[in-house]
Order: sequence, then structure tokens, then C-alpha cells
Amino acid sequence: MERGQALTEEEGAWTTFGPSALAFKESWHTPVEMTEADMDRVVAAFADAARRADRAGFDLVEVHAAHGYLLCEFLSPLSNQRTDQYGGSAENRARFPLRVAKAVRDAWPRTKALGVRFNGSDWVEGGVALEEVVAFGAAMHDLGYDYLHLTSGGNVARADIPGAEPGYQLRFAEAVKVAVPQAVVMAVGMIFDPHQAEQIVASGQADLIAIARAALDDPNWAHHAAVALGQAENLPVQYERAGKTTWPGYGRTV
Ligand SMILES: Cc1cc2nc3c(=O)[nH]c(=O)nc-3n(C[C@H](O)[C@H](O)[C@H](O)COP(=O)(O)O)c2cc1C
Repeated sequence: MERGQALTEEEGAWTTFGPSALAFKESWHTPVEMTEADMDRVVAAFADAARRADRAGFDLVEVHAAHGYLLCEFLSPLSNQRTDQYGGSAENRARFPLRVAKAVRDAWPRTKALGVRFNGSDWVEGGVALEEVVAFGAAMHDLGYDYLHLTSGGNVARADIPGAEPGYQLRFAEAVKVAVPQAVVMAVGMIFDPHQAEQIVASGQADLIAIARAALDDPNWAHHAAVALGQAENLPVQYERAGKTTWPGYGRTV
């Protein structure tokens, strides 16, 4: 994909694969419906990728089963219209993602963190149901995943996402936390205010929060959040002289 559009054949577009031959939207590639042999290949490729990530020294791996990526496409009835054992019921739609998840779990050391990101909603009528989301989260927890990261959208173009509301995806993390209290659950989506972040964790709605745009906007967000919450800024030694609390006159108007 480039400039929000699919590449043309002349531009070197790949053949894409999916659970069903359904394009994301008009003018996008129609993927080839995966065979069982394709699935075996992808399961092995995920496990190989986890082993390479370990060898390369990464401490954490998060399996992406959200936002319209392949595993998400299998989970949602909007993108998975298969009639074999990998489509239809929620249990069938989760079968391939769980095969991948197990292969990654087996390939990744228990001493390093392993999480999974998945959608709480497609934001489209007839999309993945919350009870299916909760059941998938429980299955991933049972497989030995260290945390469950709840996000949403990206699977179908016509989705109507209420993305301007602070914490708009929090309800999905909360639903999984209530149903699987022993799991570590991460919330994301329009979480930017330190007090809001603190309240989410302190109230037990989620155990962890992820921030994306707030961290791009302010790479020192965590340090500044600590100060806003009355804690030490805790900067690395090299940065201490630039700290809000150690820089005399910080914030003075000219
Ligand atoms: C520039 C940018 C790139 C992103 N890339 C990815 C990505 O590759 N994979 C992913 O799962 N989410 C991606 N996201 C979504 C974020 O992970 C996050 O879920 C979303 O921005 C909502 O959180 P926020 O309100 O804290 O930004 C991206 C977001 C931004 C702003």
C-alpha cells in the first residue's frame, strides 16, 4: 500500500492472501482464499519470525491479530466467509489465529514477554461480537500469553469509528478484564491525559495502557506524566539538567 491506495501490478504489487476472496474496498486487491497448505506455511513463518526476534535480542513480541491484518481477517465474520473448519462459527474463525498463536508461544521463550493485539469491534453491524472477543482473549490467556491488548477497527473500510472520544476503546479492555480477571489486559486509544491513564489502571479497568500519538507528540510523555501525578521525573542522568523540576526557571514567560 502507498498513499492510502493499493499498488498496481506495474508498481510491483504482491499477490495477497486472506481467509476469503473479499477486497478491503473497491479498487483494492482481492486476496486469494488461503488453502490449508498456505495456512501451514504462515504458521511456520510466524514461528520462524518469533525465533529470529529472540535471536535478534528483542524482549517482547506482540502478535498482531487486529486492524485488518491476516489473523484479524480470520476472526471477523465480515472478512471470513469460509465454509470449512476455519469459517462460520466463532470457534472456527478463531482456529487459524489460535494455531498461529500456539506456534509463536512454542517458539518464544517463556522468560520474555508475549502479548497479542486484537479487535474489540469492527464498528460495523454484523462484525465480530464482544462475547467472541472475550472468548478469544480467554483462549489466548490459556495458551500462555502474558497480556491481551484490546484495540478496534481497520478490518473493513466502511467502519464508523468514534475515534475522537477519550478512551473510546476502553470498554473492550474492560469487558475482557471482567470476564478473564486473571489476565493482564492492556487498553489503548485516545489515552493522553496522565490522570486519565492513572485512573484506568487504579480503577482496575485495565492493567496496562498503551499510548501512540501522545508519545509521538511528546517522546518524554511518561516522564511528564510522572510529574503531573506528583512523582519524580526520573530522567536519565544525561537529561537531568533539562528536567522540569531540575531546570531553574522552567516555564518562565519571556
Ligand atoms: C503514525 C501511526 C502509526 C501507527 N501504526 C500502527 C501499526 O503499525 N500497527 C498498529 O497496530 N497500530 C498502529 N497505529 C495505531 C496505534 O497503535 C494506536 O492503536 C492508535 O493510534 C490509538 O492510540 P492513540 O490514541 O494513543 O494514538 C499507528 C498509529 C499512528 C498514529
